[in-house]
Amino acid sequence: MTITAPLAPTTVGQSLQDRVALVTGGTRGIGAAISRSLVGAGATVAAAYAGNTIRARDFLDECRSEFGTENERVTAHQSDVGSADHCRRLVADVVERHGRIDILVNNAGITIDRTAARMTDDDWQQVLDVNLSGPFYLAQAALGRMVERGSGRIVMISSVIGETGNIGQANYAATKSGLFGLTKTLAREAAFQLAKSGRQDPYGPGVTVNAVTPGFIATDMLEHIPAKVLDRIVGQVPLGRLGRPEEVARLVRFLADDASAYITGQVWGVNGGLDM
Ligand SMILES: NC(=O)c1ccc[n+]([C@@H]2O[C@H](COP(=O)([O-])OP(=O)(O)OC[C@H]3O[C@@H](n4cnc5c(N)ncnc54)[C@H](OP(=O)(O)O)[C@@H]3O)[C@@H](O)[C@H]2O)c1
Repeated sequence: MTITAPLAPTTVGQSLQDRVALVTGGTRGIGAAISRSLVGAGATVAAAYAGNTIRARDFLDECRSEFGTENERVTAHQSDVGSADHCRRLVADVVERHGRIDILVNNAGITIDRTAARMTDDDWQQVLDVNLSGPFYLAQAALGRMVERGSGRIVMISSVIGETGNIGQANYAATKSGLFGLTKTLAREAAFQLAKSGRQDPYGPGVTVNAVTPGFIATDMLEHIPAKVLDRIVGQVPLGRLGRPEEVARLVRFLADDASAYITGQVWGVNGGLDM
């Protein structure tokens, strides 16, 4: 048996030109860095947000001045990913506006921290709805379209807390671990569906699903953590500092590339060595 493989059709940095990406929570924090990174690589980006319209407008202005984006290469979409209907509508809106969806980054996430003993049904449910059910409904709506085209990328933004657990974060940790099972299952289903569809090119971009687990990243999400606690956390990070949103975005950009076709069902840490 001879084992030969054609050279990879693309290299990182060249292949997002005609791609359309939906980034949830894409107008601030880690999501905004992801949106910028994808726009910088040539993609059209639909950035979704929950309710901070002022921030969304500022984000669009920043993109216009940073990238000179015109002709709607970056759009903002208000949508509650905690609602199945909103998720389905969001994917439909993006397809209507931009003609397709190639990359889905499930980044929107919330915390409602309390020890398990004090956690209310609502605290539990709200975090589950936004952090786990939302990514499922969005992926469900997007995956079929990706399989039809024979190419697609889904990236779940999980958390190091999904790997380690954390006091006061039973709801959050459960959702972030839940994304691992969702990622691996969708990765298998995507490969299976693509093979079944007859559209599979063994050396083409294919449809991949991966998860990224940021450690502690300097965004608004950390604002409610008391300074003393944050100092203690940073003290546990081997690299001795918080991460930057751009350091997470760099990995998402890499996974989104056509050339990352042989990477699927994996969990990727960006945590300064916090969990190793
Ligand atoms: N920061 C960290 O240290 C860290 C560490 C590990 C993992 N993560 C994960 O990384 C992701 C981004 O975190 P971040 O720190 O950038 O968060 P962030 O600064 O708090 O921003 C959260 C984003 O999610 C959006 N969002 C919240 N609830 C939503 C909903 N129901 N529907 C739609 N969008 C919603 C927000 O929209 P608005 O702007 O409209 O409010 C905002 O754009 C989250 O999944 C988080 O769990 C963060």
